[in-house]
Amino acid sequence: MPGKRIKSTGLAKGPGTPGIPKVDPILIVDNVTRNFGGVTAVDVNHLEIPRHAITALIGPNGAGKTTLFNLLCGFDKPNTGSWTYDGHNLAGVPSFKVARMGQVRTFQLTKALSLLSVLENMKLGAKNQRGERFWAALMPWTWGKQETEITAKARDLLKRFKLDAKEQDFAASLSGGQRKLLDMARALMNDPTLVMLDEPMAGVNPALTQSLLDHVLDLKDRGMTVLFVEHDMHMVRHIADWVVVMAEGKIVAEGPPETVMEDQAVIDAYLGAHQDVDLGVVTGRIPTIDTKESK
Ligand SMILES: Nc1ncnc2c1ncn2[C@@H]1O[C@H](COP(=O)(O)OP(=O)(O)OP(=O)(O)O)[C@@H](O)[C@H]1O
Ligand SMILES: [Mg+2]
Repeated sequence: MPGKRIKSTGLAKGPGTPGIPKVDPILIVDNVTRNFGGVTAVDVNHLEIPRHAITALIGPNGAGKTTLFNLLCGFDKPNTGSWTYDGHNLAGVPSFKVARMGQVRTFQLTKALSLLSVLENMKLGAKNQRGERFWAALMPWTWGKQETEITAKARDLLKRFKLDAKEQDFAASLSGGQRKLLDMARALMNDPTLVMLDEPMAGVNPALTQSLLDHVLDLKDRGMTVLFVEHDMHMVRHIADWVVVMAEGKIVAEGPPETVMEDQAVIDAYLGAHQDVDLGVVTGRIPTIDTKESK
């Protein structure tokens, strides 16, 4: 078990207000909007994500969190705006190139291919993956040195995530929590710098909760930056160094978890969509919201 974790402090250049510049931002977002018909799903004026820290992106259902992830990783195109990752302009860069550059993400709905083995799923996460790789992964006789290295790397990661005993099993046979672990392990095949996790805890059995938390903390210990979307406020409070709150497409609050959870804009954002929010926040406890099933 890891020892007591020290939270990163001094991440922002001032008090936590929406759009506050960071001391060392890895991701800088400007004026990014995305409309679906009449709905403005994302309308982010300015947002900076601090490097080498764990940032939680929270907000009620439909706030635009997943859409923002899709835009930032090249899975969708915005109506307006620009953003940079590590100083590189990413607008218009396709998702596979974004991943090669070191910015990877997992999906709210697992992308594990059910009828491929756990090991094959891992290999599909490897860098330089082209269309034919999919088939090559299934035809070992076409593998070269690179594929051997990829297999070794996949096995190392599966061991770290305690999925090594399952490498030949179909991904379909894994539990919800094991699939979340597989998603995270597969994202690491690319040696990322920035790991973006969309609801890593959704649908996870409590028995695996601690393990997932430890893996996220471990990413930071290994020098990576983490940005995760989560509805589980206990996880947010426990591991986030910084919290960004979205509602109706906009950033409505940001700051350290201890203060942001008591921000009136945050309480209002959750109350707007969740009448059953635990108002214990007023007395200093964390709001709890109904954790929905993974979509
Ligand atoms: N492909 C799409 N076509 C039309 N509308 C969409 C599409 N994707 C998202 N939306 C709409 O955009 C808004 C934001 O959705 P998004 O999935 O980004 O929210 P979210 O914050 O991730 O919510 P959740 O917490 O439920 O996952 C919602 O109103 C949603 O219905
Ligand atoms: Mg979502």
